Amino acid sequence: MPSLGTPGRRVAIVAGLRTPFARAGTTLKSLSAIDLGKRCVAELIERSGVDGKLVDAVVYGTVVPSVIAPNIAREVSLLPLLPKGVQAFTVSRACASANQAITDGADQIVLGHADVIIAGGAESLSNVPILHSRGMSEALVAASRAKSFGGRVKALAKVRPRDLVPITPAIAEPSTGETMGESAEKMAKINGIPRADQDHFALRSHRLAAAGTEDGRLTAEIVPVYVPPAFEAMTSDNGIRADSTMEKLKSLKPVFDRKYGTVTAGNSSPLTDGASAVLLMSEERARSLGYEPMAFIRSYAYAALDPGEQLLMGPVLAAPVALQRAGLSLGDMDLIEMHEAFAAQVLCNLHGFESQAWAERAGFSEPLGEVDRSKLNVMGGSIAIGHPFGATGGRILTTLCNELQRRGGQFGLMTVCAAGGMGHAMVIERA
Ligand SMILES: CC(C)(COP(=O)(O)OP(=O)(O)OC[C@H]1O[C@@H](n2cnc3c(N)ncnc32)[C@H](O)[C@@H]1OP(=O)(O)O)[C@@H](O)C(=O)NCCC(=O)NCCS
Repeated sequence: MPSLGTPGRRVAIVAGLRTPFARAGTTLKSLSAIDLGKRCVAELIERSGVDGKLVDAVVYGTVVPSVIAPNIAREVSLLPLLPKGVQAFTVSRACASANQAITDGADQIVLGHADVIIAGGAESLSNVPILHSRGMSEALVAASRAKSFGGRVKALAKVRPRDLVPITPAIAEPSTGETMGESAEKMAKINGIPRADQDHFALRSHRLAAAGTEDGRLTAEIVPVYVPPAFEAMTSDNGIRADSTMEKLKSLKPVFDRKYGTVTAGNSSPLTDGASAVLLMSEERARSLGYEPMAFIRSYAYAALDPGEQLLMGPVLAAPVALQRAGLSLGDMDLIEMHEAFAAQVLCNLHGFESQAWAERAGFSEPLGEVDRSKLNVMGGSIAIGHPFGATGGRILTTLCNELQRRGGQFGLMTVCAAGGMGHAMVIERA
């Protein structure tokens, strides 16, 4: 049975790119998630030089799908560079949707069903669907079925003022009603994470992302997007605040628990638009085409816990399993990339990695241990760069591969927390 580590069916990460990430409602607001995904995938094909005829499938993730085009993967795949016979499917696992796309693609390669896959994800939080209330929907359906003008008027006359209030999707757990921010706040309290530590972590994220932008390491991973109507190029993220200070961060009011809270706009990831894509190949195919892979997928894992508990602790349960499957320990990792939904969540996750109780919950006798901060999110993370839900996993994997290569490291670990109490972890290796 082939496994992720089996030579020949080992999954190579050949290339990775993303669009610039823009705060929702700003530069990229006129583009849909499909537009962003298409731009990113087209440039991935161009830059990698892969022949579109060799692509077996496009697997793409998104969290807030378009009601009109729910299979975003298929729409993204309909590019002049790809034959129409390339099949495509969409996946959703909240903030780990691009990760799900990548691991689904990797599984197809390991199974021998595919040799070349494009995987990633996109999100436009500037373009979330706004729904009608039930009363309004019923009236509209009744009006559309009415046989006469009078019947249509009668159906619409049933609409009450309260029915006119639109319904917007909330970043809240459907099962508990708790928002992500409230969950982060709760986790900070349970784990005793002070506000100052959260602000320090947020500042670090901005400073490191600003440095990565300044010296070109981050911008090298970015596909310029030409934004209509003037088609001006957007070439870098617009949420990174090189000038942020502890004083400014300290002055921000808590958002999710205004009285006793610690989670602010400054130490949370912002709502963001963007897309990412990676090119995966079987090792055999990559070598036969003459590609030097950036890295290989060594193992991965998903985990979940009760969303009503500590919603964003999934990585603490997934990481030990991924490391065990890789046959490696935390100490073997040269770099660690952890998705930053909130500074509080990262600090709680790090705390969890050191906790005996969490180790036992994950089925292990020993905790993973302390993460060496000099190896963690070395070019910043989602707090500064932004977090287009469906795209983040592709961004993180690309950065991890590039930075591992740059530093001559061998192993890298990435983790992503996701709504529903879920978590993802992946171990990659070079050579
Ligand atoms: C937290 C949140 C509500 C803040 O939204 P917002 O109020 O629109 O945030 P803004 O960008 O307007 O920031 C508010 C203020 O903080 C300031 N600010 C934010 N980050 C800052 C920083 N790093 N340094 C200095 N100032 C900062 C802004 O300048 C702004 O100040 P102003 O009001 O004087 O202009 C929103 O980003 C959010 O919902 N994030 C969480 C998203 C989420 O749940 N994701 C899922 C995770 S998996």
